[in-house]
Amino acid sequence: MARPFSRRLPWATGENALARAEAAARAAGQPLLDLTVSNPTQVGLPYPDEEIARAFADTAASPYQPAPFGLPGARAAVVGDYARRGVGLEASQVVLTASSSESYALLFKLLGDPGQRVLCPEPSYPLFEYLARLESLPPQPYRLRFDGSWHVDFDSLDLEGAAAIVLVSPNNPTGSFVSRDDFDRLAQLAAEHDLALIVDEVFADFPLSPAAGAVTTAAGRPSPALVFSLGGLSKSCGLPHLKLGWMAATGPPDLLREALAHLELIADTYLSVGTPVQLALPGLLQAGAAIRRRILERVRRNRRVLAESLGAHSPCTLLPAEAGWCAILRVPEIMSDEDWARTLLEKDGVLVQPGYFFDLAVGATLVLSLIVQEQVFAEGVARLLARLVAR
Ligand SMILES: Cc1ncc(COP(=O)(O)O)c(C=O)c1O
Repeated sequence: MARPFSRRLPWATGENALARAEAAARAAGQPLLDLTVSNPTQVGLPYPDEEIARAFADTAASPYQPAPFGLPGARAAVVGDYARRGVGLEASQVVLTASSSESYALLFKLLGDPGQRVLCPEPSYPLFEYLARLESLPPQPYRLRFDGSWHVDFDSLDLEGAAAIVLVSPNNPTGSFVSRDDFDRLAQLAAEHDLALIVDEVFADFPLSPAAGAVTTAAGRPSPALVFSLGGLSKSCGLPHLKLGWMAATGPPDLLREALAHLELIADTYLSVGTPVQLALPGLLQAGAAIRRRILERVRRNRRVLAESLGAHSPCTLLPAEAGWCAILRVPEIMSDEDWARTLLEKDGVLVQPGYFFDLAVGATLVLSLIVQEQVFAEGVARLLARLVAR
């Protein structure tokens, strides 16, 4: 029977084998060490609850003031946050949204017509695929190449007739910042093909060891093309539940003015950011600094534990990362990464993500979240390494 639904998404994807195995293990009451948790509010980190509550004090009583790009005080607070990262912006370049996912949705409406392709990096977190399809823009992957560090594979970039280029810097899960050379070349190509760059920088505040030529924020880099740099409370302050993201628009002045005028019309249609969170934003950004510090300390500690546990003679390799919350382990290719993940789940009670979830095509790889509570992480890693040795 015909169904009254759009075909924007392939709805009937079903659960994958690993998700089914996880559900079965949980249903059987098997205790699991979950090394995939990426929700910072669920990994036992202390939050400055009183400071957060103070930031919201009296905000609920405020009258509604619709503002397509956000309230002036909140936009100024984002300008202040970019200043913390060494970038000078005007408040007029800042657009508030409910999340970086929503920033993508608004930008895809601005930049693409249904059917036009959005160029998305591969490997990466499988979110943009859905965000693009939901705007009727088929995603088209371009590859990131690994030769000890990650680079844009320009040969895989098919720019003709595309709507936009998405860059994720630092990338999730590779942890790689785009290099200045790659960024400048992409920006030049984008300008030549009348395209804009969308640079997702939600993990930029979690540096591990950035390379000398890393672009730590595209908002501070001159570009002949329009550039939208995305950020938000979700990752940079560990506050995904408060639903506030932002974008900083830069580029040639005339184009920028026009882009912002169009974007204002789109944002005005939704007015999706709540007034209380906007009024609280200056206080939240301040409170968020402590949360960010704790997350970064944990990420660094867990990564160190992992590296030290591997030792010199391990059958697996920890791929280098410049930033972010993930570790990628290359494991022996005696079985697929999915089979490794299933074995670890079923025999050892350890949950990890197989690299193919992220289209990592560098042998068999497992992806571990580094924000997991320290003891859980250490025990999970110990079991994982014992399994690798035992096979
Ligand atoms: C690279 C990247 N960008 C964006 C998001 C979504 O962030 P938000 O919560 O702001 O929508 C995620 C979520 O994990 C992500 O990994």
